Amino acid sequence: MTYRFLSIDDAKKMAKIFAENFSDGWNLDQLNGAFNTGGFYALGCYTDDLVGFITYTLVDGVADIDDVLVLPSNRRKGVGLNLVSECEKHLKSLGASKIMLEVRLGNQPAISLYKKSGFLQISTRKKYYFDGEDALVFQKELL
Ligand SMILES: CC(C)(COP(=O)(O)OP(=O)(O)OC[C@H]1O[C@@H](n2cnc3c(N)ncnc32)[C@H](O)[C@@H]1OP(=O)(O)O)[C@@H](O)C(=O)NCCC(=O)NCCS
Repeated sequence: MTYRFLSIDDAKKMAKIFAENFSDGWNLDQLNGAFNTGGFYALGCYTDDLVGFITYTLVDGVADIDDVLVLPSNRRKGVGLNLVSECEKHLKSLGASKIMLEVRLGNQPAISLYKKSGFLQISTRKKYYFDGEDALVFQKELL
């Protein structure tokens, strides 16, 4: 497996993967908008093709993981953990002090992934999602 940064040229492919695999994923307009904004990054994992990616934003030293997604056929092989770890390394190199993220209360695979990556739950956002589901807020200090 190799990891490389994605660019606006990859937005179409990412939007297709989101649409096919993740109901909360971003569409092409949202991805293009994000890539055109400073501080947005996307890191992809490749075997023969793109099998997963993580997207994150860094503003004033504080980072947010927006999404991490691994194709169903490649799950439970450590790709998610590696993407979070590579993202952390990159953010540390950019001087980030902490990473925040929100995850659906019912998204046990993602919650387990973030806990395993050293994130701590710091709060809950009631009815954060459009369908009324709560979000758990996780944080990891990098310093
Ligand atoms: C969450 C997701 C990215 C995990 O990717 P992955 O590559 O399968 O994760 P890993 O193989 O690195 O797993 C790391 C750990 O996460 C946890 N985990 C992953 N999938 C899990 C599952 N289905 N059930 C319970 N725990 C799970 C486990 O603790 C696992 O470690 P283990 O395999 O040693 O038990 C993947 O399931 C996914 O793409 N889900 C849909 C998109 C999504 O919900 N993203 C999160 C948005 S906030």
